[in-house]
Amino acid sequence: MKRIGFVLLLLLLIVAGVLAFVQFSGLPTFEAPQVDLQVEVTPERVAQGAKIAAIQCMNCHMGSDQRMSGAQMKDVPPEFGTIYSRNITQDKEKGIGSWSDGELLVFLRTGIRKDGSFAPVYMPKYPLLADEDIYSIIAWLRSDAPPVQPSQQEPPPTVPNFLVKALSRTVLGPPPFPDQPVMLPDTNDQIAWGRYLAVGAYDCYNCHSLNFKTNNILEPEKSEGFFGGGNPMLNLDGEVIMTANITPDPSTGIGNWTQEQFLQAVKYGDAPNGNKLRYPMLAHTVLPDAEVNAIYAYLQTVPPLVHAVDRHQ
Ligand code: HEC
Ligand code: HEC
Repeated sequence: MKRIGFVLLLLLLIVAGVLAFVQFSGLPTFEAPQVDLQVEVTPERVAQGAKIAAIQCMNCHMGSDQRMSGAQMKDVPPEFGTIYSRNITQDKEKGIGSWSDGELLVFLRTGIRKDGSFAPVYMPKYPLLADEDIYSIIAWLRSDAPPVQPSQQEPPPTVPNFLVKALSRTVLGPPPFPDQPVMLPDTNDQIAWGRYLAVGAYDCYNCHSLNFKTNNILEPEKSEGFFGGGNPMLNLDGEVIMTANITPDPSTGIGNWTQEQFLQAVKYGDAPNGNKLRYPMLAHTVLPDAEVNAIYAYLQTVPPLVHAVDRHQ
């Protein structure tokens, strides 16, 4: 008995030690890969970057001065604590005006800054976004677009909580920097293109799978409840809004939706039953119809999940 008690006590001390280490040592740091890159800023890239940024970056980084000066993130699940994004305008001191193109590429892929510090779970990592699309985002960040002009405004720093620190050391640490070029899909192949848009470029699966904590950002298909919804998010009043099941299951997903109904929902927020889709599902008016149709075609091929999400709507 005594010996078992001793072993248990020892285990308890070890666990307490690990927990204390995670709590008090802060976020882990990592070695930042060095990448030489000089992105040529062309009008085509700036336009493509603006479109991706409208869907990906703006909602999280748009400040009260209508520039990308950073803001509190209102929709993160409450367990992650209070989170602020950062100033990513061209300001050299508060923003990213002094970052190199290579540093931006490495950060967008892995979340690692040049000093080795790591941006945890709530800043998405984009390991599947094509090189060319990342160059477009960088070109847009360097362009004369109004939202990226220098701003001195700055949100308070985020104090990561225990969960965020623990995740950063385990399942949601930085993905490896790709050792091969990441190519754009063949846009004549609707399903390959739709997959790229839904999992690589616009991160639809990230909100629409069961939980951020069990998403697999390198192999999204391995995420728990892939596209089956039920990920609890917050609206701007702090109320829980569950993401929808958008697999092709006819009863609990969107299996009965036509392509046109899907387009109305994604571009304008109008669901077939007459409801307005609520924040954080945004009306993606900047998306070309052809892209929405490709996402629709791809979603028809995703394994249907029978998962009734209680959406109080
Ligand atoms: C879901 C919200 C969200 C989205 C989408 C998002 N970001 Fe962020 N971003 C954040 C948060 C939060 C941080 C701060 C992370 C931290 O505190 O470590 C951040 C940090 C950054 C930083 C680091 C800035 C610094 O000074 O350390 C850059 C650069 C950045 N984001 C660029 C982008 C770009 C470009 C996009 C679009 C492709 C984007 N982000 C999309 C939330 C987001
Ligand atoms: C920031 C998280 C988030 C992202 C990113 C996101 N969604 Fe949503 N989506 C939601 C939420 C939350 C709802 C439920 C809204 C409601 O119930 O009013 C929703 C609802 C929907 C619906 C309506 C389904 C129904 O049954 O009413 C469709 C269709 C949809 N999303 C498609 C997409 C597509 C396509 C993308 C990528 C371009 C995407 N979503 C990206 C959070 C997100």
